[in-house]
Amino acid sequence: MSLRSGLLRIGLRPERPDYRPHIILDDLGRGMLHSELCQSSGFLGPIRLGLRILWCPVSLKDLIIRPITPGDSLAELTELIHRAYARLGAMGLNYTAVDQSVEDTARRISRGECAVAICSGRIVGTITVGGHEQDSRCEWYRGEQVAIANQFAVEPSLQGQGLGSMLLDWAEKWARERTLDELAVDTAEPATHLVAFYTKRGYRNIGFIQWKGKRYRSVVLSKTLSEKTS
Ligand SMILES: CC(C)(COP(=O)(O)OP(=O)(O)OC[C@H]1O[C@@H](n2cnc3c(N)ncnc32)[C@H](O)[C@@H]1OP(=O)(O)O)[C@@H](O)C(=O)NCCC(=O)NCCS
Repeated sequence: MSLRSGLLRIGLRPERPDYRPHIILDDLGRGMLHSELCQSSGFLGPIRLGLRILWCPVSLKDLIIRPITPGDSLAELTELIHRAYARLGAMGLNYTAVDQSVEDTARRISRGECAVAICSGRIVGTITVGGHEQDSRCEWYRGEQVAIANQFAVEPSLQGQGLGSMLLDWAEKWARERTLDELAVDTAEPATHLVAFYTKRGYRNIGFIQWKGKRYRSVVLSKTLSEKTS
């Protein structure tokens, strides 16, 4: 591996055709060498390194989305959630997931069913979905036909490849199987990219809620789960 004129070159190992090292940049633009997620070809997206644009191969081919099991590490899950929400934290949005403890993760999971996305043995995505919350300060969440999804995260280096949409589909299926009419989420009003993400997937604006301790107002969004929207 050598650094020349800002371009990071990575040597491939002929004896390991599945070994496809690539560079992942974190939110601060620091590069990190990864290989374990790369077992076949695919493209993550443009990676900026200095002034050059690199493309790095990554695969979601061996991806599994399944309910969490006692064998899964809540510490690993919490770290993934922190990595995913770091960008929102940097925007000054103090989502619980930015710095929640492992105990917080366990408590939030216990209120519903948690799905994890596993790729090459690592947790790379998650969503938690549950039924209505009788005591919620949010009126929409008290509706008996409403399911609620939260703690929704995808490994930053794997975002933008459809995994988030797959996890949302999983949550919608969970709600549909329980003959619930709606799947609701809420997100910070200033996170307009997330409001757009949900709106594009059929979620409509229900109203606003000011959660205690949050520096932002949240938008409540909900999707009607008819068979046509499956
Ligand atoms: C929100 C989140 C779960 C979505 O996961 P994802 O795997 O990126 O979702 P998808 O790939 O299905 O869709 C991402 C959208 O961003 C676009 N996108 C393109 N490049 C992207 C990139 N480098 N990173 C992220 N999104 C990108 C995708 O094309 C897609 O656009 P579309 O809405 O027009 O289809 C993920 O971005 C995440 O973990 N964010 C941080 C935590 C968070 O915001 N959670 C939700 C709080 S309410």
